[in-house]
Amino acid sequence: MSVDAAREVIRRCRLLAACSDEPEFTTRTFLSDSMRKVHGMMGVWMTAAGMDVRVDPAGNLRGVYAGAARDARRLLVGSHLDTVPHAGAFDGVLGVVIGLSLVEALHGRRLPYSIEVIGFSDEEGVRFGVPFIGSRALVGELDASLLAVQDADDVSVAQAIRNFKLDPSRMADARADANPLGYLEFHIEQGPLLASADCPLAVVDRINGRTAADVTFVGTAGHAGTTPMTSRRDAIAGAAEWIACVEALARGAKGLVATNGRIDAEPGAANVIAGRCRVTLDVRHADDSIRTAAVQRLRLAAEEISARRRLQVEWSPRLDQPAAAMDPQLVAVLARALEASGAPKTVMSSGAGHDAMVLAPYMPAAMLFIRTPGGISHHPDESVDERDVAFALATGTNFLNELAASIGV
Ligand code: HGY
Ligand code: MN
Ligand code: MN
Repeated sequence: MSVDAAREVIRRCRLLAACSDEPEFTTRTFLSDSMRKVHGMMGVWMTAAGMDVRVDPAGNLRGVYAGAARDARRLLVGSHLDTVPHAGAFDGVLGVVIGLSLVEALHGRRLPYSIEVIGFSDEEGVRFGVPFIGSRALVGELDASLLAVQDADDVSVAQAIRNFKLDPSRMADARADANPLGYLEFHIEQGPLLASADCPLAVVDRINGRTAADVTFVGTAGHAGTTPMTSRRDAIAGAAEWIACVEALARGAKGLVATNGRIDAEPGAANVIAGRCRVTLDVRHADDSIRTAAVQRLRLAAEEISARRRLQVEWSPRLDQPAAAMDPQLVAVLARALEASGAPKTVMSSGAGHDAMVLAPYMPAAMLFIRTPGGISHHPDESVDERDVAFALATGTNFLNELAASIGV
């Protein structure tokens, strides 16, 4: 695979990054107008590559490159097209564009299986606070309760789908084809490990589990100048004490990470004691029992702090995503394909969540990480090196060929 193809992948990712909900930055949330632009651009490229293209009822972009036989099983290759606010150009999108590039590199050659390139509509969970909407639709988990979740403007997932001129009642049409060969996701590592090891790629063996929750401390709003310190029920002060506990717990437990990424306080004025303070919680670990025990300890800490400060605390679960092991057979094929590309073989687990962890319980899944220079991600300075992308494309082509050989024509 040439560096030219890698350059084209990077060029396309940067073109798609300009499709944004806000000028000056790359921000693309579930079924926003900018997502429609991405569907348009990717759809042209996919159609030109000989793929049948559609947008499914969950807003996933789906491009199928038929196999040699009509009833050929499918290999799914994809990632997500949505982004965090002020994102880079490669988180998610790179995996979809690489899938397209691998099909283009076949130059019309038919394999003993079909390839379905998928651009998931929402993996980050920015708009609705619940991630993996797109990939959950593929495995039948996008149920009525998830369709009813509302965004900050009280628009439900189902209504957002209808607003995008799709039909949420036809969600069964989003299901993956029966008996797929498996799912392969190319994704930037988003951390510093490959850069510090000077490795272009890594095969992922497992993805850490993740708990997300909204934790709201409820006190009494009051005058900042006249309310004695001894009689305050200060929601921000309670939240702040708890946030310190969150960080201390994570710092003290090997492999545990915990983040309070967002704070919203009401009424939000400098001269008013906050009556309510909502804090997001994100806890991750490779071992689900350690993660769930840590979350339980943090819940008890929130209750103890609230009781002592005469506050109430509301705990709203958002996600409990178990850790996912990648499929050993598919990982072995990917590892051989990586070695055949000439890149050094590296295996690592993923601290970040990915659509592959949603699909893994339903089909064999594998992931290939691509080095993230400086470990910078979820940031406009996120980048990839064209030689690393060339290695990834070579690995992908080797993978397709070995899978084809193992099935036979
Ligand atoms: O949060 C994550 O791990 C991913 O970037 N959505
Ligand atoms: Mn991300
Ligand atoms: Mn991602």
